[in-house]
Amino acid sequence: MSGYRWLFDHVLVHLDAERAHRLGFWLVRQRFRVRFTRGDRGRIGGAGVRAMGIDFPGVLGLAAGFDKNAVGIDALAALGFSFVEVGTVTGEPQPGNQRPRLFRLPADRAVVNRMGFNNDGAEVVAARLGRRAGGLRAGVRWFRGSQARTSTTKVVVGVNIGKTKAVPEHDEAAVLADYRKSAGLLAPYADYLVVNVSSPNTPGLRDLQAVDRLRPLLDGVRRAADAATPGRRVPLLVKIAPDLSDKDVLAVADLAVDVGLDGIVATNTTVARDGLRSSPEDVERAGPGGLSGAPLRGRSLDVLRLLRDRVGPGLTLVSVGGIETAADARARLDAGATLLQAYTAFVYHGAGWPRRVQRQLER
Ligand code: FNR
Repeated sequence: MSGYRWLFDHVLVHLDAERAHRLGFWLVRQRFRVRFTRGDRGRIGGAGVRAMGIDFPGVLGLAAGFDKNAVGIDALAALGFSFVEVGTVTGEPQPGNQRPRLFRLPADRAVVNRMGFNNDGAEVVAARLGRRAGGLRAGVRWFRGSQARTSTTKVVVGVNIGKTKAVPEHDEAAVLADYRKSAGLLAPYADYLVVNVSSPNTPGLRDLQAVDRLRPLLDGVRRAADAATPGRRVPLLVKIAPDLSDKDVLAVADLAVDVGLDGIVATNTTVARDGLRSSPEDVERAGPGGLSGAPLRGRSLDVLRLLRDRVGPGLTLVSVGGIETAADARARLDAGATLLQAYTAFVYHGAGWPRRVQRQLER
């Protein structure tokens, strides 16, 4: 039995899910502590891909929500994630919803969360990313125990931005200003930016997926990012919900092409609870929120196919939702995904999971 399996079965499952997340993430950060030293810059081995003008060391990344505050990018990269999407970061810091707000449904290898964008806010996260960038310029190496390994400085960092809860969702100018604030502060440190309009836990957020609201939002964020990064055009993507109808998925696809987005991240968590193996009592106990993990696989793949068919080969599609095995990952690539992300499978399968899947994919 692997160390993680043991830890998961004997310790983490007995903790409240959010505590387990904090403990697990802390352990990963302790084990892969980053030291700032002069040194050569290695890279994560394997099959890289170039997308949006960026060299990704591999196709598999960590989805948004795990490292909301950008505190563990290099430790997570050391586990084999080729890119880490930090956030969701909001314009203002906020505590998120009342606990408990994170629940496991092990019979479905699924998670329900209603975290509600708990995060340190754009200013603090930007400063943190700035310090990391300074360290990278000085040359960074990471250590496993005392043994120096190749550095992970090639890890690609995406930044996912969302709406501050206190900003009234119907005040379009205020919503835009909030997103623009985050974009302006964070774009300088982001390899790519994602506009999140698809989390179910911020009231009214998903209404921003309607094309007439999304267009001005994406245009405004584009301009704010450009103003903050003279001489560099930060790739911009939108992240969508699996609960959109096919017609609405296609409308977002057309809009993405029309406004010149670089890509689409599909999908976020679902509010649906169909076809679960968990008992109705367990599902009820978890309560409202976004469901992630294995039950999302079918819809996420369908949305990917719809999108690829509609946008043609040029646009970057980041497929996320229910990816658990190398076969799942392969199926997404075959269906037209440029890049892949996961969150829930990492929680269930542990610290060895990202590297294992990446290796199996390369075979
Ligand atoms: C998420 N997800 C998420 N997405 C996002 O855009 N911003 C966020 O802050 C969060 N937060 C978050 C917290 C938790 C606890 C979970 C489980 C998920 C959604 C995530 O990025 C991903 O889109 C879905 O979880 C689907 O992928 P998996 O988990 O099935 O691989």
